[in-house]
Amino acid sequence: VPSRIISIGGGKGGVGKSVVAANLAVAIARAGRRVVLVDGDLGAANLHTMFRVDRPGPTLQGLMTKRISSLEDAIVRTPVENLTLIPGSGAVAGAANITYSQKQKLIRHIRALKTDVVVIDVGAGVSHNVLDLFTAADLRVVVLNPQLTSIQNAYAFLKGAVYRTVRMCSSPAELALLDAAGGERDTARMADLLKAVVSTDVSLVAAIERRLSHFGAFLVGNQVYHQDETGALLAVARMIFDFLSVRTPVLGWLFAKRVIHESVNNGMPFQAYARDESARAIMEIAKVLLSIDVAPLRAARVALEDSIADEDLEVETRPRLQATALSA
Ligand SMILES: Nc1ncnc2c1ncn2[C@@H]1O[C@H](COP(=O)(O)OP(=O)(O)OP(=O)(O)O)[C@@H](O)[C@H]1O
Ligand SMILES: [Mg+2]
Repeated sequence: VPSRIISIGGGKGGVGKSVVAANLAVAIARAGRRVVLVDGDLGAANLHTMFRVDRPGPTLQGLMTKRISSLEDAIVRTPVENLTLIPGSGAVAGAANITYSQKQKLIRHIRALKTDVVVIDVGAGVSHNVLDLFTAADLRVVVLNPQLTSIQNAYAFLKGAVYRTVRMCSSPAELALLDAAGGERDTARMADLLKAVVSTDVSLVAAIERRLSHFGAFLVGNQVYHQDETGALLAVARMIFDFLSVRTPVLGWLFAKRVIHESVNNGMPFQAYARDESARAIMEIAKVLLSIDVAPLRAARVALEDSIADEDLEVETRPRLQATALSA
């Protein structure tokens, strides 16, 4: 069982999730931990290309098609010592549309991998599958660019993940209560929502606060062009706390660099050979991620997952309309 699972998401396509995931995985492997990097981008996998790894064997999708019975069977070596990869299949139409039980199976297998650390690239978008893969991890990294469109999507992504966690394991009556209090309205603040609910259901608020304080999310900036832009990253973290009541410390950032761009075509993450400022930035981020005590975060997550029967969860993953209809 991995001692820590780190997911990399961010909503927007092309912000550098895969670049950050691949380089962090290399940094952690170079720090002496055994790392499995999982290409969880179900629609458009390309981590194998970043390491110039062939995929003659089964991929992550083999678990869905039952070609393999254990995710371990999809593991391939990379040129980096201590680092292996679970590649994904390329852009197969419909490949991202895995069922609820396939997703549960994937998460179960990821959590059972025989390694020290797992790094999951969850891919783009805010679909339930992406959000659930993101929140399946102990430590959750949101990659964003200091650009309005990326900030917007990163916020929407985190909001989706946070509200999904908040609504998870709530009974129909509790969901109705949350909806009546304003729910996920765009202008709603989590603090106001909880304030509106607390007089009716103190224990629900306490449970939600525990989930929020153990959310375990972090921001990493990418494609920064100028030092001045890094202030925007800190402002985003403040805004997130303001609206979602979740702390998301900024772990660091990468500047936009030609060498980073070229490393993709070179088939090797820069962390494996560069000794520059980008490499140091990634190493610092890796150090923090390795030093955090994940036990309380994992305990909170397990408690949340255990508190709900699988069938209820399945209802909750259907479109929100149904949850509302249920409670009507
Ligand atoms: N710091 C950087 N400096 C220069 N170029 C970068 C940097 N980060 C990423 N890029 C460029 O952006 C491209 C997209 O990055 P990447 O594939 O990591 O994005 P992504 O978020 O994983 O995208 P997708 O959502 O499509 O999976 C890279 O191929 C690289 O050329
Ligand atoms: Mg990617």
